[in-house]
Amino acid sequence: MLKDKIQTALNKQIELEASSSHFYLAMASWSETIGLTGTSEFLYKHSDEERMHMLKLIRFVNERGGQAAIPALIKPPTEFKNLSNIFELLLEHELNVTESINNIVDLCLAEKDYTTYNFMQWYVSEQMEEEALARTILDKLSLIGEDKGGLYMFDRDLQTMAQDLAIDGK
Ligand code: FEO
Repeated sequence: MLKDKIQTALNKQIELEASSSHFYLAMASWSETIGLTGTSEFLYKHSDEERMHMLKLIRFVNERGGQAAIPALIKPPTEFKNLSNIFELLLEHELNVTESINNIVDLCLAEKDYTTYNFMQWYVSEQMEEEALARTILDKLSLIGEDKGGLYMFDRDLQTMAQDLAIDGK
């Protein structure tokens, strides 16, 4: 049985993963409207990945005899300044997610809930990968600067990266 404190923290995390999915969906849609097919593909996949992160938590809470809370969603922005702005926002968002996951891990140790502690290790390594990926993309964008040819290549690169994104949680 899940302790109340742990359940509350996991339900907050469910909300955060849902808001990540929604936020990246808005980014994907905006990128699609300005013709960045590869970037939008990558962000649609990323949004799906976040939904999978949310689902994994919902099922864990319920399987442990708790009750997952399905959250209301806040409307994300419809406009973004440019591509760099998108990935800066994405990295900033992921840093908040990492902090939240680290707080849950701390709480699990304090509450001696080693099952949830183990479960959360998957999220700890996922965050390392997501932060590294966002930084790699930002580095690419800063190299490209205003170069249109570079931007075309970047978009194609993201198309390839989208194919590598795993959304099955394995
Ligand atoms: Fe599920 Fe990108 O954090």
